[in-house]
Amino acid sequence: MNFGHFDDANKEYVITTPDTPLPWINYLGSQDFFSLISNTCGGYSFYKDAKLLRITRYRYNNIPVDSNGKYYYIKDGDSIWNPGAMPTRTSLDAYECRHGLGYSRFHGEKNGLAADLLAFVPVDTPCEINKLTLKNNSDAAKEISLFSYVEFCLWNAVDDMTNYQRNLSTGEVEIIGSTIYHKTEYRERRNHYSFFTVNAPVDGFDTSRDDFLGLGRGNNNPIAVEEGKSRNSVASGWYPIASQQINVTLAPGEEKEFVFLLGYCENPKDDKWEAPNVIKKDPAKKIMEKFAASQQVDAAFAQLNAYWDELLSRYHVESQDPHVNRMANIWNQYQCMVTFNMSRSASYYESGTGRGMGFRDSCQDLLGFVHLIPERARERILDIAATQFEDGSAYHQYQPLTKQGNLDIGSGFNDDPLWLIAAVAAYLKETGDYAILDEMVAFDCHMEKAATLFEHLRRSFEYSRTHLGPHKLPLIGRADWNDCLNLNCFSNEPGESFQTTGPSEGPVAESVFIAGMYVKYGNEFAEICRRVGKEKEAEIAQKAVDEMYQAVLDAGWDGEWFLRAYDAASQKVGSHECEEGQIFIEPQGFCIIAGIGVKEGLAKKALDSVKERLDTKYGIMLHQPAYTRYYLNLGEISSYPPGYKENAGIFCHNNPWISIAETVIGRGNRAFEIYKKTCPSYIENISEIHRTEPYVYSQMIAGRDAARHGEAKNSWLTGTAAWTFVNLSQAILGVQPTYDGLSIDPCIPEGFGDFTLTRRFRGATYYFDVKNPNNVVKGVAYLEVDGKQVKGNVVPVEDGKKEYHVTVHMA
Ligand code: BGC
Ligand code: NOJ
Repeated sequence: MNFGHFDDANKEYVITTPDTPLPWINYLGSQDFFSLISNTCGGYSFYKDAKLLRITRYRYNNIPVDSNGKYYYIKDGDSIWNPGAMPTRTSLDAYECRHGLGYSRFHGEKNGLAADLLAFVPVDTPCEINKLTLKNNSDAAKEISLFSYVEFCLWNAVDDMTNYQRNLSTGEVEIIGSTIYHKTEYRERRNHYSFFTVNAPVDGFDTSRDDFLGLGRGNNNPIAVEEGKSRNSVASGWYPIASQQINVTLAPGEEKEFVFLLGYCENPKDDKWEAPNVIKKDPAKKIMEKFAASQQVDAAFAQLNAYWDELLSRYHVESQDPHVNRMANIWNQYQCMVTFNMSRSASYYESGTGRGMGFRDSCQDLLGFVHLIPERARERILDIAATQFEDGSAYHQYQPLTKQGNLDIGSGFNDDPLWLIAAVAAYLKETGDYAILDEMVAFDCHMEKAATLFEHLRRSFEYSRTHLGPHKLPLIGRADWNDCLNLNCFSNEPGESFQTTGPSEGPVAESVFIAGMYVKYGNEFAEICRRVGKEKEAEIAQKAVDEMYQAVLDAGWDGEWFLRAYDAASQKVGSHECEEGQIFIEPQGFCIIAGIGVKEGLAKKALDSVKERLDTKYGIMLHQPAYTRYYLNLGEISSYPPGYKENAGIFCHNNPWISIAETVIGRGNRAFEIYKKTCPSYIENISEIHRTEPYVYSQMIAGRDAARHGEAKNSWLTGTAAWTFVNLSQAILGVQPTYDGLSIDPCIPEGFGDFTLTRRFRGATYYFDVKNPNNVVKGVAYLEVDGKQVKGNVVPVEDGKKEYHVTVHMA
């Protein structure tokens, strides 16, 4: 069942009912100012950091669900309604929400009045623009009252939800004409404030929530709107809001436009603070002047669209499969941008106050983003690396605003260091910018402890090399990619938090998954060493990698698949000998991506086992059988009911690993079958089962053991975005950036047909024309580069050449 449809020409998903199974959201903003916005106008805004600089208030866990946002009430006679249906939920004669790239549009209609709302964050200004157009489609004149509504958050979102004894006395606003300034915290010498304004004279306003709503009422029936009369309230403490009333007369056929702006401002840091509660209005004024007229707003909107057109032109495929085209050219790349921006901080499932930027998460997000804006990827790499400790381990998370590592979580996830190598290798291949390796980067967020980025990579590898267990496999520490496989958590008391107790690293618990990473990214490290002339170091690294390869064959193979781990008592995890959890997805994917077992014939066996034991129609499960009871030696993984999350859920993130692994052994049909199972566009028509947004990936789909098999959770912020893009663009369609240039080696399903692909790379544009007359799944006979025949898969780079026309002859 569908609740809307894709509009590919406009790069939009069109939602045709407010009654989606869950709020279906979008992200506005791509640099500093961000908003989350649902298909019923719920959501919130923040500047850079959803925890520390939250501009508007949102209530997670609220009832009704998703009932705070930026709302416009239309009072037309006795009927009161909102263009996005919420919060009044008055039934509308027409409703539509279009989520596009960095913007959302709403169309509501009631009793001959149409309201069109366009919400977006311009590319270069810290504000959200809401352009509201009202049109009278009836034959009679209309006198209506329009009320706006946003509720301010008192900046620090955690404090805002907890410290009421203080907060209820700190709120301050200032009202000048049509503009409401929110200046809480200004008095204490923070230099930020926000404002909400409209480009028209107002007939009233409210800044006190209780006055506007009326005590005992909700935002579904504010008293001021019901009575058609703002209270002109001035908030002093309590709950500051911004609401404007505008009375509008519309002749039949007449249309009026209003531009509402929510802006964020900072005053100069060296401000003298002579009158501490008097905010300097100039920055706000600048923003208001910039978007005072509809034409300016339209120009900013055109600029936003051009921005996205340019970004997406860097990778574009035209195949015969509309799902592939749509995901590769629009939604998958879009989600990569969002995950890059948000890491795991703010979504409808991440509260914005919790996880911030994840070390392993952001390193992986970068893999799907680096081709879009390499300069931002560069900056991110340096930020992430600065949260590494001198011994090569790393803070597991850091705060986006302060860029300080999170001390509560600390370190000890032993896969983290290797992800840094993954990110840097991807960046180097994309850009050829070896200078990044010479950048001085802090350790432990302290510049006094800085060293070059290359040194950081060296420490990453050294940490892994020197933390091996009895089977010469990497020690797992607190967990590896699977946060819930806590093999050293045997000391956890019932009810204690899994990740903050227990020894961070036991002497023996080992991870075969990290071993796969070690081989893959150890090879990358050795290659980077070679590229910068450190031959000796490359040799040492290579030797260590070769030993690890052997260790996996010796102690990491279970007979039909790769083992998952050894626990703290050196017992096998993910073996046919286990009672439950006999086979896990992660090592099958990553060991084979690393090439382990390919020439030994183990890869095919392992992947066949995955198909036989882990596959479902909705995707591949993490492990089987699911854990039916809690295991002290395994930790959080067994705390979930069977089929959910890490306990045998379908983690979308590592499905592409298996798909990529299938391309490693050349099975294009199976690789694509796996791709399709979790691909949003392919499963749009089971939206009533899947429930999350059909245009983006979710973190998890309930596995076979769950009552709600097929139901997805945690949409948007997942490494799935990056890994599926890597899978589709590099493994299936086969265009890979390498140190020496772009290589192409598709691995496609039979019947996929010919396709063309445009790829921007290091300042040049590559036009690939892939011909597959014999319908093979893999194999390139030769390339023709601008008419010249070339052997191998890499397009040779010619200095100064701006365009490459490459015909790829598969055979
Ligand atoms: C979740 C994991 C997540 C972790 C983060 C766990 O409860 O199951 O998916 O990575 O929390 O701390
Ligand atoms: C979500 C976390 O953000 C990610 O880091 C982790 O790898 C997966 N959960 C699996 O546990």
